[in-house]
Amino acid sequence: MANPNENTVPVIAIDGPSGAGKGTLCRLVSQRTGYHLLDSGALYRLTALAAMRAGVSLGDERVVADVAANLDIRFDATPEGTRVFLSGQDVSSDIRREEVGMNASKVAAYQPVRAALLDRQRAFARTPGLVADGRDMGTVVFPDAKVKIFLTASAEERARRRVLQLESAGQQAHFDEILADIRARDGRDSKRSAAPLVAADDALVIDSTNLSIEQVLDLILQQLKKQSLEGNRDA
Ligand code: DC
Repeated sequence: MANPNENTVPVIAIDGPSGAGKGTLCRLVSQRTGYHLLDSGALYRLTALAAMRAGVSLGDERVVADVAANLDIRFDATPEGTRVFLSGQDVSSDIRREEVGMNASKVAAYQPVRAALLDRQRAFARTPGLVADGRDMGTVVFPDAKVKIFLTASAEERARRRVLQLESAGQQAHFDEILADIRARDGRDSKRSAAPLVAADDALVIDSTNLSIEQVLDLILQQLKKQSLEGNRDA
């Protein structure tokens, strides 16, 4: 179903594989512009978590799509970041668990699940605008987005960043295992038939392998300027 807001509310679609820095950049762009933020991956993670909690078979796409269609969720923006609630319970850390991420990747390959989440994602496009973080924001969910960015980085660099992130959180991290996991997930996300991970034809592709967050942010802000979507807030 078409979103009546989509042509009037500016959308900045930022897609790409995991670990390319999308989360951080989307947060910064949202702060700069004062636009709302959609973390679409969280919706797939919430679907997986809700299905796990309901004890339904994750292999049954119809049943999982039903779970997706009936999710009772809330996103609360706080100064420390967005808190995510499932049926009234704060699940912000639960949805980041490795097992939930794996199951999210599995259920995200089901077309009926993607269809069930489509309108929910489009409903995030409200004034003054939206920064949409995902895999198919510029290709499927917001094909008319004003600005489309496809942010990528080599698998090795993404693994290196993940190791640093885990180590700084006091967790053990093995580079080789993480690299293998990233490659497996890339393969699944880009080879699936439902909304595979590809850059939109009109997306600006940014390879962040040798760029800092600030350099990538500058490139994105330049794109916004070209579309007269300059930030209205200080970062
Ligand atoms: O970005 P993330 O790791 O939170 O995403 C979790 C899973 O959901 C990941 O396997 C990719 C999938 N996903 C998707 O298929 N489409 C999106 N728009 C966002 C995420």
